[in-house]
Amino acid sequence: MSDLVTYTSDGELAVITINNPPVNALSPAVPEGIAASIERANADPSINGIVLIGGGRTFIAGADIKEFGKVVAGEKEEGSLLPLLLALEDSAKPVVAALHGSAFGGGLEIAMACHYRVADKGAQVGQPEVKLGIIPGAAGTQRLPRLAGVEKAVEMCVSGAPVKAAEALAAGIVDQLITGDLLAGALAFLREKIAAGATPPKTRERHDKLGDEATNAAIFAAAREKAKKTARGLHAPFAAIDAVEAATKLPFDEGCQRERELFRQCLFSDQAKALMHVFFAEREVAKIPGLSPEAKPVAIQQAAIIGAGTMGGGIAMNFANAGVPVLLKETTQEALDRGLATITKNYANTVKKGRLGEEAMQQRLALITPTLSYDGFENADVIIEAVFENMALKKDIFTELDNRAKAGALLASNTSSLNLDEIAATTSRPASVIGLHFFSPANVMRLLEIVRGKATSDETIVSAFALAKLMKKVGVLVGNCHGFVGNRMFFQYMREAYFLVEEGAAVEAVDKALTNFGMAMGLLAVDDMAGIDVGVKVRQENAKNEPAGRRQPLVADKLYALGRYGQKTGAGWYKYDENRRAIPDAEVAALIEQTATEAGIQRREISAEEIVERCVYALINEGAKILEEGFALRAGDIDIVYLNGYGFAAWRGGPMWYADTVGVKNVYDRVCEFHAEHGAWWEPAPLLKRLAETGGTFAAWDKAKTE
Ligand code: 3HC
Ligand code: NAI
Repeated sequence: MSDLVTYTSDGELAVITINNPPVNALSPAVPEGIAASIERANADPSINGIVLIGGGRTFIAGADIKEFGKVVAGEKEEGSLLPLLLALEDSAKPVVAALHGSAFGGGLEIAMACHYRVADKGAQVGQPEVKLGIIPGAAGTQRLPRLAGVEKAVEMCVSGAPVKAAEALAAGIVDQLITGDLLAGALAFLREKIAAGATPPKTRERHDKLGDEATNAAIFAAAREKAKKTARGLHAPFAAIDAVEAATKLPFDEGCQRERELFRQCLFSDQAKALMHVFFAEREVAKIPGLSPEAKPVAIQQAAIIGAGTMGGGIAMNFANAGVPVLLKETTQEALDRGLATITKNYANTVKKGRLGEEAMQQRLALITPTLSYDGFENADVIIEAVFENMALKKDIFTELDNRAKAGALLASNTSSLNLDEIAATTSRPASVIGLHFFSPANVMRLLEIVRGKATSDETIVSAFALAKLMKKVGVLVGNCHGFVGNRMFFQYMREAYFLVEEGAAVEAVDKALTNFGMAMGLLAVDDMAGIDVGVKVRQENAKNEPAGRRQPLVADKLYALGRYGQKTGAGWYKYDENRRAIPDAEVAALIEQTATEAGIQRREISAEEIVERCVYALINEGAKILEEGFALRAGDIDIVYLNGYGFAAWRGGPMWYADTVGVKNVYDRVCEFHAEHGAWWEPAPLLKRLAETGGTFAAWDKAKTE
């Protein structure tokens, strides 16, 4: 018997317990152990029934995702859970699955092959495979519609979203909720069934919820339409719909075969590889090599923010959402009122959309205390400065904070471009100073760049990560360079979009090429949203530190001079109707053409492929420089920054993963061509060159660093 599965008995009932921490993933020895236990129970005449339960914090979180990587790499044979599921379902003795924590993916598939399912009230069930670019591969798409009906199965398999125990009960996925001890409840449930002489029901033999053809056709058509909008570019959601459709049209065994074909197509796709990379990169990002294990986060019970503008207000909402009281300081009553009005409006919108109750809104607002003074700051465990981007002002504020804050409090700046070490140097405790670079809107965007200064202590770093978690954000540790990771790369990325229009690509062609690639928005539409005025000022600042003589974009400055600041003025790269819909503007096209001609820029046809290469390879080249200079810990961290802060498609894995997908050598060769054609901005990153010459990948570079 495997060590990961234990077999015990409670009187006449066998108890099979899975113990594969932390989440009981189905590593090979787990299915083997369950199969052997089922056989043992069936061979033992003193046993009448079987409970299958998870040890530790969860039932089974699904297949072991690491194993998929080995299968795809050809290092391992592809296994299948189907024989185990048939053994469970065909067990002569009834089997009840007792669910707590998560019954996800292969975990739910195992549970559905059992005769009964009981669940702890806090349990969740789900088929999250689409989030990994695959579909359920062990009859989930065949058994789920038989238990929950076609519509619910489609919804769960396409969205991948978990369903809470009570909803699973209502849908027919579980048979009973258990209050109190789960194992005791499961044993009692099974004894009752056995006493009643019930024939153990087999899910695969049920047809009562499979619906009729006309109703199903409408469900599938609607699901495909919806997926075209919500899952743009992704293959797996469509494969999931096809597989559930097969359940309604084919006998069970054939349906399983169809599911298998679709599953394999997905598993071997670049999308699945990318999404599995994202799954692990998101978890890796919080692991910081070299930190002292003694470093413990400060408990965050009181927060304070300076500045109730765009960022400060959003950050205050993050604290309130996490239940942490927060002081919000401004310089004038007017600014304070404005800041609070924005916060209230944001909450009211969420209430209007039905995503927050009125009472919850009031509770959150009550956690935000507006103030014009520093009174109470001495009690704060974390203080975040979010005033204008002005070094002298920030220095004054940090001097004041140094006088007032208690020892050990986190002193954070939300600066997006100023030197954190210079700010920290104004205090007597630079070890407590850190950058917390939120992204706008700060209450919505998931990314938090955690900027490590040269004196920042390990305690301060772990506290910042704890804060990110508290706010449900993904924290990424970055170094103190200009623009940190995200914006430093963005400068290169945006510049190429500017150059491309000057060289002959239409504004909308640039954006379309990028959205077709998978970006959430086109870059010029992003520029209009963020404000062309903001972009121009940032470029003027950047220019102070750039080598002289490099080509500079021309048209953005002209739009600025014309007062075309983007969405806020109703016109920028596009013009905007009253619904803020972007409309291509012939005036802009003419302005671009005229500017290019005056500057002697040769205009030409530019393919969508070149647009993507110019923009994305600019990201990759800068990312490689950042990596080698040590401003990001891992290529995977850079990917997480781009996925969560800049709308890069998760199914592309992020820019650095995408470089590996295309082949680092191919990227490098193109970068060299661009360098020859377009000059110094395209100086190849030494790391990119080295990886290209040695057949390396960014993924292998990461692995070598962590080993
Ligand atoms: N395989 C391998 N490792 C897994 C895993 C899995 N399915 N699920 C979680 N882990 C690992 C994580 O990588 C992490 O490892 P680390 O500590 O070394 O970083 C550790 O388990 C803990 O995970 P989390 O940090 O995510 O813990 P949480 O408590 O926040 O979340 C969870 C737990 C909700 C179960 C979450 O981990 C999760 O959603 N896991 C993935 C579930 C999933 O996608 N299952 C489907 C797999 S595909 C499948 O089953 C195919 C089938 O149809 C054949
Ligand atoms: P903002 O102009 O909207 O808000 C700044 C607020 O600070 C103003 O309300 C102002 O009255 C207040 N303020 C100034 N001095 C103060 C003082 N001494 N005490 C209390 N309040 C004071 O600016 P925004 O956009 O919120 O930016 C704040 C910081 O966040 C800047 O450092 C900026 O670079 C950074 N940032 C901005 C992002 C954005 O998209 N707006 C994104 C990420 C970072």
